[in-house]
Amino acid sequence: MDKFVIRGGNPLVGTIRVSGAKNSALPCMAAALLTEDEVILENIPQVHDIETERKLLVSMGADVNLGYGRAQHRTTICCKNLSDPVAKYEIVKTMRASSLVLGPLVARIGMARVALPGGCAIGGRPIDLHIKGLEKMGATITQEHGYLEARATRLKGAHIFFDKITVTGTEDLLMAAVLADGETLLENCAREPEVADTAALLTSMGAKIEGAGTSTIRVQGVTSLHGARHRINPDRIEAGTFLIAGAITQGDLIVDNCNPAHLGALIDKLTQMGVSVETIAPDQLRVRASHPLYAVDMSTEEYPGFPTDMQAQFMALATQADGVSQIKENIFENRFMHVQELVRMGANIKVDGRVATVRGKTTLSSAAVMCSDLRASASLVLAAMVADGETILDRVYHMDRGYERFEEKLRSVGAQIRRMGNVFATKDTAPENI
Ligand code: UD1
Repeated sequence: MDKFVIRGGNPLVGTIRVSGAKNSALPCMAAALLTEDEVILENIPQVHDIETERKLLVSMGADVNLGYGRAQHRTTICCKNLSDPVAKYEIVKTMRASSLVLGPLVARIGMARVALPGGCAIGGRPIDLHIKGLEKMGATITQEHGYLEARATRLKGAHIFFDKITVTGTEDLLMAAVLADGETLLENCAREPEVADTAALLTSMGAKIEGAGTSTIRVQGVTSLHGARHRINPDRIEAGTFLIAGAITQGDLIVDNCNPAHLGALIDKLTQMGVSVETIAPDQLRVRASHPLYAVDMSTEEYPGFPTDMQAQFMALATQADGVSQIKENIFENRFMHVQELVRMGANIKVDGRVATVRGKTTLSSAAVMCSDLRASASLVLAAMVADGETILDRVYHMDRGYERFEEKLRSVGAQIRRMGNVFATKDTAPENI
């Protein structure tokens, strides 16, 4: 299993480039199931979850050419022949976003079998809202032997209100609605940029969608979609992680190829802490910080609120701020697994239910620590970059699921970080995370 060896103390200085958003790329790859034609996606990140989705599509009969190394990380997908519309447990258990194929498969070929994802390290993560929505659109859902089977001759438009805001649930039902008969009204939708990105691809494939990116989406179903070419948005969570990397190391970092408009809640918190974040070009932010930093409270919310996917990284920064920061996790019930590892590095953090109280500033010291999920891993790398001595971070396969060449990018701006072991070894058996 790969490890990172990180020596703290260097400020990050220079320009660091953000890759395409994993959480946009996953639904966009699933959207290719909706047409017989070729879909070309640019700016696909080279991360392990994308490789998992490639395997998933290929196992169903699709042709997927992940064009890394070619210009713009271009991926070509052709789902003309879908001989086996089944998302098998071996794949679904390693990546819960596999449930994104449910809506497109039923919409296009009238049937899907998807393994139930099971539990997950950061909480229950059910898919009941995907199921309820498809039932409202006329699908018959049965469950047997750990698999969910959905069937419909043709889905019909429906009025769906999400009881809870769900990102992949919104994307899944949006993809189902585009080929349904008649109008679908989706209410209380997720407003995340990844939903709007998926809708932009669907629109260029011929779908009729209004309101994506707002809480109400209206879709007029069409009978078929055609091929398209689409460029994936920059990854706002990777960009946010780099902003915190610049701030925590008291660096001067330019975060390139990002969309500042997607980072409002984080930039606001960083500014309150005393970090300088400037938009220096439409796709570039410059972050500079000199300590002391001030403690601020933060609560995770659905977009445009503070993203739960930045909570762990923000907590690492809060350990370096003077005073008491209260961090509340509202989206997932068990997303504080990084806390015990940060405490092992010297942080003063107490958890009570959904609230973590961080008392700073604490001096962090190196330790042997373990990644527990994707964003928790990023938080530990950030902490290690300001700790005394050499931190050994184990199980970095979690990191590889969602960050492209993370250690190389950080090293290019001055971090002392290196990988030990075989890249991409053992990840097929990695437990689910996000
Ligand atoms: C997506 C992101 C993930 C991010 C999360 C919240 C992808 C691939 N992953 O995950 O990185 O952390 O959004 O921003 O895009 N829920 C239900 N029933 C459902 C679906 C969800 O109760 O059918 C609940 C979940 O348990 C959770 C909340 O809704 O408490 C939000 O989950 P959701 O937005 O669905 O997360 P994902 O789409 O899985």
